[in-house]
Amino acid sequence: MRRVKVAVNGFGTIGKRVAEAVLRQPDMELVGVVKVTPDYGARYAVSRGIKLYTLPDRVEAFRRRGIEVEGTLDELLDRVDVVIDATPGGTGAKYKPLYERKGVKAVFQGGEKPDVAEVSFSTLCNYEEALDRRSVRVVSCNTTGLLRAICTLSRLGRVQSVRATIVRRAADPKEVKRGPVNAIVPDPAQLPSHHAEDVKTVLRDLDIVTAAVVVPTTLMHVHVVYARLSSRVTREDVLSLFEDSPRIVLASASDGIKSTADVVELARDMGRPRYDVPELVVWADSVTVNGDEVMWMQAVHQESIVVPENIDAVRAVMGLARRAADTIRVTDETLGLRRGWLTGGPP
Ligand SMILES: NC(=O)c1ccc[n+]([C@@H]2O[C@H](COP(=O)([O-])OP(=O)(O)OC[C@H]3O[C@@H](n4cnc5c(N)ncnc54)[C@H](OP(=O)(O)O)[C@@H]3O)[C@@H](O)[C@H]2O)c1
Repeated sequence: MRRVKVAVNGFGTIGKRVAEAVLRQPDMELVGVVKVTPDYGARYAVSRGIKLYTLPDRVEAFRRRGIEVEGTLDELLDRVDVVIDATPGGTGAKYKPLYERKGVKAVFQGGEKPDVAEVSFSTLCNYEEALDRRSVRVVSCNTTGLLRAICTLSRLGRVQSVRATIVRRAADPKEVKRGPVNAIVPDPAQLPSHHAEDVKTVLRDLDIVTAAVVVPTTLMHVHVVYARLSSRVTREDVLSLFEDSPRIVLASASDGIKSTADVVELARDMGRPRYDVPELVVWADSVTVNGDEVMWMQAVHQESIVVPENIDAVRAVMGLARRAADTIRVTDETLGLRRGWLTGGPP
């Protein structure tokens, strides 16, 4: 089988995880990654056997630091079928004309505006819409978490409306210049927050309102979600749906998973690479049903939740899998995603 040749532009929080996920795919070949700073991250890539590329005016800086580069971004793009752009928010749009000129397909991240790509993407919601496209935008971490739950829930009946409060982490663990350190910040103070609009880039007709606050943590986001369905359901219906669905795991406070710190501690205990939790974590205890109204709390690991969707997006644009179920099977097996309970079984 010819493997699709993939480049990753940007080797930061998202880029390095996506690059390593590409390495695990039987139908993809990671040709190289792009960094602009010749630092420990560049040395790490080389130590993993990953080919490093940079921008033309940065080549000399890498050579001076004794870090071998294979060539420039331009040269890398000549060698691949598809590029996953994991550069800082807004930078991907600047690269878009270059990707088009080079004739490579592009997968962008949620930090870009929706018009950067032909389709905003969430595997469980609109995989087929992304098939064979030239460009796709994987929505942000919070939007990915919301969409996974909403599109899963829609298997029980039409989701009429969603109201969600998003408690956002202040920074990623490696960031030292972002806050708050000691405050809770409405983000923004006006309602709704932008997350509702982002969800609507995928589910255009959904009645959704979101609010967000930022809190001083780096570990994960937490969402409190209220959804109204077109028909009555039971708590058991919802729990067994979440338990059986891909990309979602259940956790229980009664089993000691009382916070995002416990989720991360368990991921460490499980030997997860970088303590990543690409699954959406739903607290089973929180699932509450009142007729057609469903409420729950969920946790989103911002650094890793979009990694499976990036891999699926490559399969979609390259036509490697015609059905969502086919890419989900391969992605989840190769990345070791769990289904059911995060702990491996019910408490
Ligand atoms: N972090 C999250 O929680 C998260 C979650 C979901 C989606 N996203 C989205 O994913 C995207 C990437 O975010 P991130 O958190 O991974 O950012 P990041 O950690 O800051 O990494 C950005 C990477 O891009 C590289 N870069 C910077 N300027 C560049 C340029 N002009 N050309 C090529 N590469 C350049 C950096 O290179 P050097 O390291 O060499 O300086 C770095 O490797 C953003 O759209 C963001 O909104 C982030």
